[in-house]
Amino acid sequence: MRVGFLQFFPKFALGEDDKTKNIEKIRGFLEGTKADIIVLPELFATGYLFESRDELVRLAETPDGPTVSALKDLSKEFNTALVGTVAERAGDDIFNTCYAVSGGEVLGTYRKVHLFDREKAMFAAGDTPFPVIDVKGARVGLMICFDWIFPEVARVLALEGAQILCAPSNLVLPYCPAAMVTRCIENHVFAVLANRVGMERTGDIELEFVGMSEIVAPNGDILARAGREEEMLQVAEIDPADADDKMVTSTNDVLADRRPEFYRKLCE
Ligand code: ACM
Repeated sequence: MRVGFLQFFPKFALGEDDKTKNIEKIRGFLEGTKADIIVLPELFATGYLFESRDELVRLAETPDGPTVSALKDLSKEFNTALVGTVAERAGDDIFNTCYAVSGGEVLGTYRKVHLFDREKAMFAAGDTPFPVIDVKGARVGLMICFDWIFPEVARVLALEGAQILCAPSNLVLPYCPAAMVTRCIENHVFAVLANRVGMERTGDIELEFVGMSEIVAPNGDILARAGREEEMLQVAEIDPADADDKMVTSTNDVLADRRPEFYRKLCE
């Protein structure tokens, strides 16, 4: 199976036209690419640093809105499953929601549980479990950006049977790409982390996104990693079944050897 990430610089959307431009840019990268799954950055259509919640509300969409529709169309046109997040309007709430689409259909969604910094003033925290969905015969676990700092997320997804963690991201802290290598080793799973690049400003706030998107194997090998500034799409050939072998030595299984009776504090 061929899995990959698209790392790019989404233009901050002042309206629907800019969202369309970002989607057309994604289309340009997909032209000529052969891949089964491509992970896109978090909030790939709108950009990230909203001036106010009102601005976010204006840019957010219901699941039948234009961005999810465009994702569905692209997945069909290029025969590639796509994973990325969209600002989702649900009543009075806005969620940062990951969509996995394939063949023109939504296969699964996940609303970001761990909100980062200013997102807490903008989005509602996710209210749905971490999902593992079947994508083209592989078991794919969905997580979003700052979820990386909570090792429980990758662990729960691995326990639910995920072979590949897909993580659309807008990383500003530089530690995540290295931490995801550990997440892969400790759970014996693949990860595809898609970050964005570039800078956004609003008022006194300035964010620089750190790139370094990557594809990591269950043994921690980095199969592909982008630089901090470049826009690029990269794909690696993997066998998702490699993630089913949880042995780190001939006698140590990273999941079966756990001792949950000693971890009770984690669930308090
Ligand atoms: C993040 O969760 N966008 C850092």
